[in-house]
Amino acid sequence: MGLKLQHSYSEKEYFMKKVILISCLLMTGSLFADNGESIYKSKCFSCHGEKASKAALNKSQIIAGWDASKIIQSMLDYKEGKGGPMKNVMKPIATGLSDDDLKAVATTIASYK
Ligand code: HEC
Repeated sequence: MGLKLQHSYSEKEYFMKKVILISCLLMTGSLFADNGESIYKSKCFSCHGEKASKAALNKSQIIAGWDASKIIQSMLDYKEGKGGPMKNVMKPIATGLSDDDLKAVATTIASYK
């Protein structure tokens, strides 16, 4: 009897831990998304347009729905001075983003499908 009670208690405790862990993950997930959205609006929107659906300055590829990893890679390339014919436009913008901000904004753009 005692054992059985203890067993169900620890299972409940395990469940609660899982619930807490999942809520934390969800919270940081949405913080991340909010941050990415505000970075996009303030630093990218003017050229890449609503939900990244425009060719920036009529030159860039349309980046809406690109994988976050592809966006991050091309931003890292711009930081190093690599890219297309208009790479000098993107270089200072890419350089101005921290790694965390870059991840956040890449995740946001990847969600624009
Ligand atoms: C002043 C206008 C401008 C702003 C602001 C801007 N971009 Fe760009 N972006 C461009 C242009 C022009 C290109 C094409 C550059 C090239 O020739 O490689 C480009 C290219 C890109 C590419 C690669 C697409 C391709 O054509 O290869 C990515 C990814 C990108 N921008 C992301 C961003 C992000 C993220 C932000 C905000 C942090 C941003 N851009 C802000 C103008 C802009």
